Amino acid sequence: MDRKILAIETSCDDTAAAVTVGRNVISNAIYTQTEHEKYGGVVPEIASRNHILKLPYIVDEALNRADMSLKDLDAIAVTDGPGLIGALLVGVSYAKALAYSLKLPLIPVHHIEGHICSLYISHKNLAPPFLCLVVSGGHSHIVVVEDFGKYRLIARTRDDAVGEAFDKTARTLGLGYPGGPCLEQLAKDGEAIYTYPRGFKGEKHLDFTFSGLKTAVINHMHNMDQKGEQYNKADIAASFQKEAISFLADNTFEAARREGISKIGIAGGVSSNNALREEFQRRANEAGASLYLPDAEYCTDNAAMIGCAAGFAKATDNPLELNANASKTLF
Ligand code: KG4
Ligand code: ZN
Repeated sequence: MDRKILAIETSCDDTAAAVTVGRNVISNAIYTQTEHEKYGGVVPEIASRNHILKLPYIVDEALNRADMSLKDLDAIAVTDGPGLIGALLVGVSYAKALAYSLKLPLIPVHHIEGHICSLYISHKNLAPPFLCLVVSGGHSHIVVVEDFGKYRLIARTRDDAVGEAFDKTARTLGLGYPGGPCLEQLAKDGEAIYTYPRGFKGEKHLDFTFSGLKTAVINHMHNMDQKGEQYNKADIAASFQKEAISFLADNTFEAARREGISKIGIAGGVSSNNALREEFQRRANEAGASLYLPDAEYCTDNAAMIGCAAGFAKATDNPLELNANASKTLF
């Protein structure tokens, strides 16, 4: 019998709790901190303080929506890294206290493993081996999921994550926060008429680099501004987005070819981008591969994915020793 798990996720600016049983999400509660908007990015100290204020209510909401009380639970799961240290500490401390007082097992979950496991929620029959592109604000990884809980890293970004590049380019374009969804929206009104250079051309490895793309867009706009040239920001957004997506797709499908894998998943905040979803679907059809995408609510940070990952994992032997680890590794 699958355990009833209360999962907690506070690694960045979303305060989230969920109740899961295996791959099934019984409830999924989230408070998205809008307090960071006016700073144009996440302010770690504000994120931590908000988690302290909101987490007890979000846990209550998750339990209420699941029509459960604390005594119905079999285990507590929590993201213990990677992420913002202060933000992680709030979730980890709360989860430790709950597990200790309720005498329940405590299951630590790696945030990226959580994103990968969001695919199991949306695709109940998906099983390893498959290839997964993890694209978020902090990561751009191509991973072979060899088995449940067993991962092999094939490629990663050497500098900015793709979500970070979306956010920074959006800021240059004068858009709101978070930049990714705003840039996607603007790009719908534009044409990808500009070509930006790609790094690592002709290299054998499949790593990414996005900081050059971001800088190319910034320089392009500054040049046109200085010359007094008219331009449409939507065309710039569309051109940036097209290049970012085609870089991700080229390397992911090449990795799949090299590994002989025909099941491909995408996870993480950027996987909610519809242009990316459509382009990957087009390429998957062309390559005869199966594409697995998370439902929209499980793309960006959430606690349901942490509960789902915990369902495949072991509890820690020393719950009171668990600590937040801002740079926890998975590979
Ligand atoms: O997975 P996530 O919620 O948090 C991290 O683990 O980082 O990902 C957040 C990132 C942000 O950079 C955000 O701008 C990006 O995902 N993002 C998008 C879209 N929605 C979220 N990027 C492009 N298009 C979107 N629609
Ligand atoms: Zn995330």
